Amino acid sequence: MTRRDLLAGGLGLAGVSLLTPVKPEGEEAQVPKLRFVHMTDLHIRFQDGAQEGVALCVKRIHSLNPRPDFIIVGGDACEGLMGRTSAESERWLKTLSEWLKPLEMPIHYVVGNHDIVGWGKDGSSDATDPHFGKKAFADRFLKGPTYRSFNRGGWHFILMDSIQGPATPDPWPYRSQIDPGQLEWLKGDLATLKPGTPIVVAVHSPLMSGYHTINDGTYEKPQARMLIENGKQLHEILKPYPVKAVLQGHTHIRENLLYNGCQHITSGAVCGNWWNGSRFGVDPAGYSVCDLSDQDLTWQYLPSGWPTTG
Ligand SMILES: [Fe+2]
Repeated sequence: MTRRDLLAGGLGLAGVSLLTPVKPEGEEAQVPKLRFVHMTDLHIRFQDGAQEGVALCVKRIHSLNPRPDFIIVGGDACEGLMGRTSAESERWLKTLSEWLKPLEMPIHYVVGNHDIVGWGKDGSSDATDPHFGKKAFADRFLKGPTYRSFNRGGWHFILMDSIQGPATPDPWPYRSQIDPGQLEWLKGDLATLKPGTPIVVAVHSPLMSGYHTINDGTYEKPQARMLIENGKQLHEILKPYPVKAVLQGHTHIRENLLYNGCQHITSGAVCGNWWNGSRFGVDPAGYSVCDLSDQDLTWQYLPSGWPTTG
């Protein structure tokens, strides 16, 4: 199906593959203790069929059975706010609310680089603007700090902020990094947990990923903007705890890197290859469904049905 076919045919699910069952056909369906969706990198824009693409994804999530208990939006829900003023950004923030309104379950947001107002490298934004930086997104969607945690169904969920401003002049206006204050907060948060509590971490830039192997010819110059540059520090803090999954975004690839009992899942992108087919020709637009038992997390990546070719 091409994008033109999709737009011409509306958002019916005909022509789109059926949902992957929790258990293979013929076996008794197993109801998870908790189910949630991790949808990341929406990159909402006002062209290229993005509105239809988000609506298609939302409709697919609504058709899941069992229905998710909540959603985690993994960052880059908006697009290009770094190069905009807060007045301009208001259109994206308002539109994001409208497009995701049909999702009736609670939504927990993680901040991504595209959700940050005015950090653009051209210096045109006004840092005295009261909504400069992460504030506009945080006020509207996070209702609190950019890193926080919550408990649900006997599990502990930690939402982290991996986007920091560059400390020195840099070709990019941000770095993927966990700042020292946040690392201290994390240590304190983990220390409050009852031993054995299973943990899920959600973060925009990956802690662990094979992205550079796929995209780059060399490891000589790691890019501080793609993977968390002080990932080792974060990993060392998490290591003593039963972290079952780290949910990641930013690279738009679909992968699951199992290390030390933890699945490092990158959930592709709702926009696929920025609304132009599949990422690297293999990772379609879609979202992750995570099913939890008492101690285990099962992952599926479900294509939204957005055309895989541009
Ligand atoms: Fe990103």
